[in-house]
Amino acid sequence: MQRLDKYLSEAGAASRRELKDLLRAGAVTVNGAVVRDGAVKIDETADRVCLHGQTVEGLRRVVLLLYKPAGFVTSTDDPRDRTVMDLLPERWRKQRVAPVGRLDKATEGLLLLTNDGVLAHRLISPKYRIEKDYYAEHEGEAGQEDTEAFRAGLTLGDGTVCLPAELEPLGPGKSRVRVVEGKYHQVRRMLASRGMAVTYLRRDREGGLTLDGLASGEVRELTAAEVAALDRETGMQTAGE
Ligand code: URA
Repeated sequence: MQRLDKYLSEAGAASRRELKDLLRAGAVTVNGAVVRDGAVKIDETADRVCLHGQTVEGLRRVVLLLYKPAGFVTSTDDPRDRTVMDLLPERWRKQRVAPVGRLDKATEGLLLLTNDGVLAHRLISPKYRIEKDYYAEHEGEAGQEDTEAFRAGLTLGDGTVCLPAELEPLGPGKSRVRVVEGKYHQVRRMLASRGMAVTYLRRDREGGLTLDGLASGEVRELTAAEVAALDRETGMQTAGE
């Protein structure tokens, strides 16, 4: 149960101030009956709240999987560039989702977005060891020594120490990289530190999730089973119990 005015303002229907006037004017109905008192308690899982006759969807936990194309910045708003938020339908922007971590403007691939800040933090934090797989095209060819250097934990030019990572050479100019952290430009800098400047980068996997079935620029909401699996991977279930 939740106060009607809180439900409406969290859903972004109007500011608290405007809501007072809207309620007074009889613009809000709950299950078809006009309600003028914002303090009335509603059951957000069962009651139908309308403003000017339009259903107002309340905030609920949302996790989205986006196939980010190159050319979009991972940010909720940017003065110059198009952002990943521009790729989302309005109904999900209203749920106030934000990107989980960051893919560079030139990087493509799997990007999660959620309105659950705790889950977002856990997906990014190296503590929970969520694996991220990248396909990279680069100068040169990776070999055994590079694989060993990645496995030992690279130290980048500026002294940044990386956790052990996997490098799988896929032939001349191509590799797969698996990391459990997300430092700034990490995969590009790791490969560059071994003399292999990256020309193309795509994230293909995060935890148990892949891009399967999505085309570049497409987004879908995770199923309840997929969210439950993420919760298990990040220890959210035990934390909530
Ligand atoms: N590593 C990078 O260098 N860039 C990305 O976008 C993601 C990981």
